Amino acid sequence: MSISIELKYLRDFVQGRAIEQWTARVNDAHLTLMNRTGQGNDFLGWMNLPEKSLHSVTVLNHVAGEFAAGLDSVVVIGIGGSYLGTRAVTEALTNPFGENRPGPEILFAGHQLVDTYYHQLTAYLRNRNWGIIVVSKSGTTTEPAIAFRILKQALEHQVGPAKAASRVIAITDQSRGALRKLADQLGYTTFVIPDDVGGRYSVLSPVGLVPLAVAGFSAEQLLQGALRMKQNSGMEIGIQNNPVTLYSALRNILLSQGKTTEVFCSFQPQLHYVAEWWKQLYGESEGKDGKGIFPAAVEYTTDLHSMGQFMQDGPRNLFETMLEPENPNALFPIPSDPQDLDGLNFLAGSSMSLANQAALTGTAEAHVSGGVPVIGIKTGPINEFTLGELFFFFEKACAISGYLLKVNPFDQPGVELYKKNMFRLLGKPGY
Ligand code: PA5
Repeated sequence: MSISIELKYLRDFVQGRAIEQWTARVNDAHLTLMNRTGQGNDFLGWMNLPEKSLHSVTVLNHVAGEFAAGLDSVVVIGIGGSYLGTRAVTEALTNPFGENRPGPEILFAGHQLVDTYYHQLTAYLRNRNWGIIVVSKSGTTTEPAIAFRILKQALEHQVGPAKAASRVIAITDQSRGALRKLADQLGYTTFVIPDDVGGRYSVLSPVGLVPLAVAGFSAEQLLQGALRMKQNSGMEIGIQNNPVTLYSALRNILLSQGKTTEVFCSFQPQLHYVAEWWKQLYGESEGKDGKGIFPAAVEYTTDLHSMGQFMQDGPRNLFETMLEPENPNALFPIPSDPQDLDGLNFLAGSSMSLANQAALTGTAEAHVSGGVPVIGIKTGPINEFTLGELFFFFEKACAISGYLLKVNPFDQPGVELYKKNMFRLLGKPGY
């Protein structure tokens, strides 16, 4: 099953005529993207990553396999687009109780500035065989640069400089930036982030593929999924059958009705970082020039007991985008209980997934009746292939949505100001 858009929860909010009215605009935005004539058109390399990365995936897998051999843990250092895609896949596909991990465990660093975390992380690593994958396109971002200083020294101290150098992979620009310089000096294995691929569109480049292959996930399946989505979202496919253009149209139709917040919902907490990845993609791509849809996320059913009230009954300026993956796991039947004090014996023998599915349908129906439109996104079971489809789906829809909003979906000038202030406060020369 490929990705499809579920329209049944939108009937009260979006008429077929509205979609027809928006079709010409969406087609224009799509054409602008495909003809490479829009803003930020020097950052469209992500569109060819499925094919391009497939060409080099065998070599990538080989390097990743050699690196992973004998390591218990690998610390992936990066922030924003340089780490969220990797974290989305590892958290979605890793058994949280630690069994059946396909490769070394993946730990994360460089995504915040909390010294307790580094204290705890270095203490944890002290008795392990570990390595580092450091990812930074600019090679100068403060959070990962500080993390790399700390962890590089810890690794060198533990195994000596020469062995430490063989346990570092740097993923960065071809020729620019401090990380490239250091990697060349110390002889690290390196992979290149292409010039024309921005951070939040980079998961299908070495940025995501190398750490994921090291962790034992299938980079090839991710790319095959992305390729399938690319094929299923071409210009020749009309909006009713094209999930990418349909999703772009729907969210902009809803925005035109005053729905200024989009809440990404899933009923699977292991997709938490898929939502974080999605938030970065849409937040950085659209939130500019006073425009944009605010991207938020909830995890149901957990958050039905915290945010459910607000969703049902709060201000009506929001819509939900609800992920509905096919659930192949009917692994856990609900047991029968002789006393039935909780009155749940009517569920005995049914799977937990059945209850989760009923919760999803019940929630969508309730929120619709409370005035919240719900865009359903149906996918196959969560695996590398489906995640690859989802990545490409959301990236392309984001680019088209950005062009519909008439913003540049590939820059992020607004993230610079905090850095300048921080450097001034820390006394960096020149600030
Ligand atoms: O999407 C983006 O461009 C950003 O989120 C970057 O990925 C993030 O700031 C990290 O930048 P860099 O890879 O240069 O360290």
